[in-house]
Amino acid sequence: HVFNHNVDATDKGEYRHYMMKEIYEQPKVIAACLEGRISETKVLTSCFGVDSSFLKDIENVHIVACGTSYHAGMVAKYWIEDLAGLPCSVEVASEYRYRKVAVPKNTLFLTLSQSGETADTLAALRMAKELGYLTSLAICNVPSSTLVRESALTLLTNAGAEIGVASTKAFTTQLTALLITSIAIASEKGALSAEKEAELVTSMRSLPAHIDEALKQDAAIKKVSDRFANKHNALFLGRGPMFPIALEGSLKLKEISYIHAEAYPAGELKHGPLALVDEDMPIITLVPHNNMLDKLKSNLQEVAARGGELYVFADKDTDLHNEDGVIFTEVPKVDEILEPIVHTIPLQLLSYHVAVVKGTDVDQPRNLAKSVTVE
Ligand code: G6P
Repeated sequence: HVFNHNVDATDKGEYRHYMMKEIYEQPKVIAACLEGRISETKVLTSCFGVDSSFLKDIENVHIVACGTSYHAGMVAKYWIEDLAGLPCSVEVASEYRYRKVAVPKNTLFLTLSQSGETADTLAALRMAKELGYLTSLAICNVPSSTLVRESALTLLTNAGAEIGVASTKAFTTQLTALLITSIAIASEKGALSAEKEAELVTSMRSLPAHIDEALKQDAAIKKVSDRFANKHNALFLGRGPMFPIALEGSLKLKEISYIHAEAYPAGELKHGPLALVDEDMPIITLVPHNNMLDKLKSNLQEVAARGGELYVFADKDTDLHNEDGVIFTEVPKVDEILEPIVHTIPLQLLSYHVAVVKGTDVDQPRNLAKSVTVE
């Protein structure tokens, strides 16, 4: 069953903007992305449409994409290296296509694109075809797109039509499809025990429910967003796979609210951005409850000591609260593998509400296009 691209595609329903409608569609479209791709215990390698033995041959992965899709690729690097133990590089298509690329033996060329029409991504694929890759896989949202037509293999994200220029449901379904792909590769490579695979698949099944839960913070995040109306800058921090989520959060904020925003891996704070921290600088920190928690807490103290305004998105187990200059927003506690996907939701809501407060054109931000089909 494939989510129908035409149903309600141009109807905002009860929502004021497409972006909000698309944010709220995420539990449904993530379920659509999982459907037919996993069993109770396994990722179904049939979802790539060919004999899965090609996965066994993969020794390297090159991911190429633009914009939000590039951020999804950055998360996948953590998953592929961690689960499958394969080297993975991620690059924006506009860099990749104009340089000499060294391609190791048996490398998978993986593109990510919502539209499947981004000029740089298409040019990168065409170039890659000349470079002796093992094969090309496109993770894409539009079945009839050029990227899908020209790639050897496709995994559709099944997110339905995305109208808002700022990508939301396309991103979280890309992450879902990338998790499916990472697990499939790891499993075929023999890097994943059957028990571990079953555990991961069980986690994935709970994803739509956790997204629903994350959406329940909407009203609380709306309140927080009022504090951003007069800000000119914002700094997002994350560690590990939450760093690309911080990048995506900062991209959403700058795209639709026009606030200058940057993201840093939290450990780099002292190598520059700390110089920017004062009472006017909101710092948005993504704190998952994992083994980096203590390190992150010490990063937070460095910021607090300089009077920075701290916005912390974390689950209850982190023992962080609304206190001493910390503005706390609860994110559902989930298995570690799901954290990047679930933590995306509050950042989407934050940028949405800040843009509404500022009165910008949420669905059609100035100077930007949904699909960049020219160079
Ligand atoms: C444009 C859009 C972004 C998108 C990027 C890549 O810049 O405004 O939202 O992430 O293109 O698009 P693609 O369709 O290739 O994912």
